[in-house]
Amino acid sequence: MTLRISHLHAVEILDSRARPTLAVTLATPEGVQVRAAVPAGASTGSREAVESRDRERDRYQGQGVLRAVGHVNGEIARELVGRSFPTAAAVDAELIALDGTENKTRLGANAIVGVSLAATRAEAAQRGQQLWQFLAELSGTAPRLPVPHFNVVNGGAHAANALDFQEFMLAPLGAPSMAEAVRAASEVYTRLKARLAAAGHTVSLGDEGGFAPALERPEEVLGELVAAIEDAGYTPGRDGVAIALDPAANEFRADGHYRVAGAELSSDQLIDRYEEIIDRFPVWSVEDGLAEDDWEGWSRLTARLGPRAQVMGDDIFVTNPAILRRAVESGIGNAALIKVNQIGTVSQTLEAVRVCREAGYRQMVSHRSGETDDTFIADLAVGIGCGQIKSGAPARGERVAKYNRLLEIDDATADSLPYGVAVR
Ligand code: PGA
Ligand code: ZN
Repeated sequence: MTLRISHLHAVEILDSRARPTLAVTLATPEGVQVRAAVPAGASTGSREAVESRDRERDRYQGQGVLRAVGHVNGEIARELVGRSFPTAAAVDAELIALDGTENKTRLGANAIVGVSLAATRAEAAQRGQQLWQFLAELSGTAPRLPVPHFNVVNGGAHAANALDFQEFMLAPLGAPSMAEAVRAASEVYTRLKARLAAAGHTVSLGDEGGFAPALERPEEVLGELVAAIEDAGYTPGRDGVAIALDPAANEFRADGHYRVAGAELSSDQLIDRYEEIIDRFPVWSVEDGLAEDDWEGWSRLTARLGPRAQVMGDDIFVTNPAILRRAVESGIGNAALIKVNQIGTVSQTLEAVRVCREAGYRQMVSHRSGETDDTFIADLAVGIGCGQIKSGAPARGERVAKYNRLLEIDDATADSLPYGVAVR
């Protein structure tokens, strides 16, 4: 098989936060036509691949991406169009070489990832395969429907409330199928809305479609979540609907401390707090419990929470195979969040997944807080067989697009793919 590129074009579009991003279209002479759109984060790790922003203050507050669009339509198109590649991975290698920097700063990670996503889609289409099937073959894994993690309460950099923890997610670990997981999340979300409204809270939404109530203490939110799970008739916990947290601690790290609900905590005090939380509430996963500059704290966090919960790294690992290898050697975390735009190409993302798998680290595929209608990550989660995905609330079009794609994959495979992740 060869991947011949006859057309490549990028355009500036909007993401779900009214900020510009890119959509890329790619075509082959055989008639394959694909499109990919690029997500963007707000609580980013410092070592992520760097997106290109125009920095022209009088246009989109400096957030325009016309330079990145220009790179796709100019330099990248000149290099790729008219050529044949053995695989989409070879296109990735070409993009990395053409950029020539460690963090994709020259052409922009947003330009590069758009082309990489499109090339991967094109190769799958050329082969006549579903994207998830192609990705499963590439990564050498048995495909699996992931447990969706629904972010139903938003704080931190994703909401204007006083809540320091960024994400409170429903994880229907005990659901018998993808369809029942989606149903549980929708029913709990609706009950949660009613509870918050009855208590006089605003039910306005944060960036990922979760509610953004004026609550400050994470324990209060967790109490509401457990009550909403019960109100909806489900069992809180691993046999029913569990809870996952992404405090995103980078964002409340200040002067070597952590500022949570007005208190200044040391790393160890914050770890104590997580232990108490896990004792009291059915929390099965904690992502970015400490900041990316606190590797010593992370090692104690992993030792103390690891036996009881998933200790997930996002901003600290940034889907970077080299950083992940160092983390594995140092015993930091036991699971990694997987975001294609953190590293910038699909093939490097699959390498990060391989590092995790070899080390026995679980993986969770993730959206970004700035999203589009693109559903690539749903297929990625199924293809790598990691058993977990997070894509925000069961509300807002750009969030549910991913969950809906998973429902459609489940239906198209006539329930033949296993659902879930082994957690015991
Ligand atoms: P981001 O948030 O997309 O704003 O980085 C998602 C996360 O922290 O997991
Ligand atoms: Zn995160």
